[in-house]
Amino acid sequence: MEKRAYFITGTDTSVGKTFVTAGIASALTRKGLSVGVMKPVETGCPLKSEELVPKDALLLKEAAGASDALDIINPYRFRLPLAPSVAARLEGVTIDFERLAEYFDEIQKAHDVMLVEGAGGLMTPLTDEKTNADLAFVLGLPLIVVAGSKLGVVNHTLLTVEAAGALGLDVKGVILNHPEEAHKSVDISRDYNCEEIERFLELPVLGVVPHIGKEGAAQSQKIFDAIVAGL
Ligand SMILES: Nc1ncnc2c1ncn2[C@@H]1O[C@H](COP(=O)(O)OP(=O)(O)O)[C@@H](O)[C@H]1O
Ligand SMILES: [Mg+2]
Repeated sequence: MEKRAYFITGTDTSVGKTFVTAGIASALTRKGLSVGVMKPVETGCPLKSEELVPKDALLLKEAAGASDALDIINPYRFRLPLAPSVAARLEGVTIDFERLAEYFDEIQKAHDVMLVEGAGGLMTPLTDEKTNADLAFVLGLPLIVVAGSKLGVVNHTLLTVEAAGALGLDVKGVILNHPEEAHKSVDISRDYNCEEIERFLELPVLGVVPHIGKEGAAQSQKIFDAIVAGL
């Protein structure tokens, strides 16, 4: 049987791709599966003792309990919080998809399931010519779209799914996430976003992840166990 693998993209940056990918990784490990992760390109990495710290990659590696080398999980990291294409250009680096595909194969061989977190959104450029969508295509992965719930998310989700389809990518489903704490008086759209996305999409909403506070670990496990059961 072909191994399961997913490319996690989002409706924007900071919508919760890492948070959701980590939650899925932990839930899969609770089921006894060995999980491989990749964050092929990470920008905005802080510098610590002269080393760039790829926070997303480290979080995913820990959530998955993966022992693969960090430099394979995250081959490209940049200090500036810019689109990868721009950060790479400023440093004279070209992101090499063949190299990423080799590392992907290497990690995948060692695990049952693979989770690859994109950088930014689906059409965020990675090189002068290629975007995250191209990378998902080269790796042959279906997408999971993390949608950050706020006014506008219905539009962003439909655009992302539409673009994915036009580019020949499969979309497994959407996860509606709440990266921000609820301020209902400011954003009442949260009460309607899921229903509205479901009305217009022919795809399943795989789960709705509420904003999870510090005491929410148990609640979080239940939610991600249910999401993983539907994958
Ligand atoms: N459901 C959630 N509950 C609580 N905090 C969240 C949730 N989703 C995201 N966050 C927080 O929001 C911030 C942005 O999420 P992150 O996963 O880093 O986004 P992305 O990977 O899309 O850039 C992080 O600090 C993360 O911990
Ligand atoms: Mg992230």
